[in-house]
Amino acid sequence: MNPLTFIILSAGLDSLKELRGAISAREETRLLVAGDDAEQVYPEIARLKPNAVVVTLGANAEAGLKFVERVAAECPRTAIICASRDASPDLILRSLRAGARDFLRLPVNPEEFATVIARTAEFCAAQVEPAKKRGRAVCVFSSKGGCGTSFIATNLAAATDASTVLVDLNLQAGDLSLFLGVEPKYSIADLVESRERVDDTLLKGYLAPHSANLSLLAAPREADLADEIEPEHVFEIIEILRERFDYVVIDPQHTFDSITLAALDQCDEIVLVLTLDIPAIRSTQRTLQIFDRLGYPRHKVRIVVNRWSKQIELDIKTVERFLGERVVGYVQSDYNTAVNSINLGQPLVESDPSSRISAEIREIAASVTGAVAPSSVTEPRRTLWQSIFGRAVGKTNNEGLNARIGKAKAPAAI
Ligand SMILES: Nc1ncnc2c1ncn2[C@@H]1O[C@H](COP(=O)(O)OP(=O)(O)OP(=O)(O)O)[C@@H](O)[C@H]1O
Ligand SMILES: [Mg+2]
Repeated sequence: MNPLTFIILSAGLDSLKELRGAISAREETRLLVAGDDAEQVYPEIARLKPNAVVVTLGANAEAGLKFVERVAAECPRTAIICASRDASPDLILRSLRAGARDFLRLPVNPEEFATVIARTAEFCAAQVEPAKKRGRAVCVFSSKGGCGTSFIATNLAAATDASTVLVDLNLQAGDLSLFLGVEPKYSIADLVESRERVDDTLLKGYLAPHSANLSLLAAPREADLADEIEPEHVFEIIEILRERFDYVVIDPQHTFDSITLAALDQCDEIVLVLTLDIPAIRSTQRTLQIFDRLGYPRHKVRIVVNRWSKQIELDIKTVERFLGERVVGYVQSDYNTAVNSINLGQPLVESDPSSRISAEIREIAASVTGAVAPSSVTEPRRTLWQSIFGRAVGKTNNEGLNARIGKAKAPAAI
């Protein structure tokens, strides 16, 4: 067991010696600093964060009590013990009111001292900070619009069997409230504004609840409110959400702007969505190159093919070879089913859990949440490969990205 650490502030030399002897004599207590000057002792308390501070109250009790008030206000996890030869009820009461947890009569009585130490140990044990929750942050991303990232993000968020918040990071034109059939009163812009004083109740008010497990942090209703949001705000908001939810599922824009990069940097996993057409495959390959340049480990990226159909004559193995990465999930193409669920404002995994798309999304969710290893995901039937990946790729000119990896380092043409 760690010893209980002490700092003593005592104006009287006798009291100082006495307390030092009593603390040093015990195995479970350790004296860190002892002094008679409050201005010298206080910085040591702030620096060393002892379990307890003993303040003796002598002729000038008022100064000692002021010191107690200061330590109580600024170091609430530190037990303060007042010690004095004057054990009048009045002084004991004033000590407790100033913030002391205990009162020790001087000269030290070993039995009483042992009781004070036991009570201090009990207080300190209760001060251990509970481990903070840290939910998983998952970005569902595609550098090409229209691949179905919002559809997949919404359904993934609804498929996790745990408390989840879906974040609409398409700040200019986010429409995830329609996907979830909710009418948000507030948005991420409001949360950014009050992020420094946010508590559970305030946060709950800013989210739009969809079900017991799923809420939405909506995009700003007015596009100009988005201009106030900086990448560091996004970072802070994701941290706040991770402390309260098991999963934070983020649907960012399809560009490498600084807001999107803040989310991609911070998330544990990136579900990279593509469709099996040449522009989308090229865009995915370029995205993977950018991820490499940004230093994202490949295990952070999970490639998912959306709108898959056996009519598409592309061999998956060749696509994987071209991308240099395995596809871990497939969502079949079913326009009517997908669009109806969006129009209903209900994720398909809820409105039609027995549909094939729902099963595929649940499989991806299980792989993202760690319930299933990616290797167990079933691959669709392969068809003949046609050699079509020979054309040049244009450069990206995204502001956030250029600032991070430099214009000169923009991905080279294939
Ligand atoms: N598996 C699917 N099968 C058929 N249609 C789909 C599938 N997934 C999504 N869609 C359709 O594709 C369209 C685009 O979907 P979605 O809005 O999710 O894409 P996005 O990548 O978020 O696009 P945006 O560029 O607007 O952000 C929607 O009409 C949706 O119904
Ligand atoms: Mg979208």
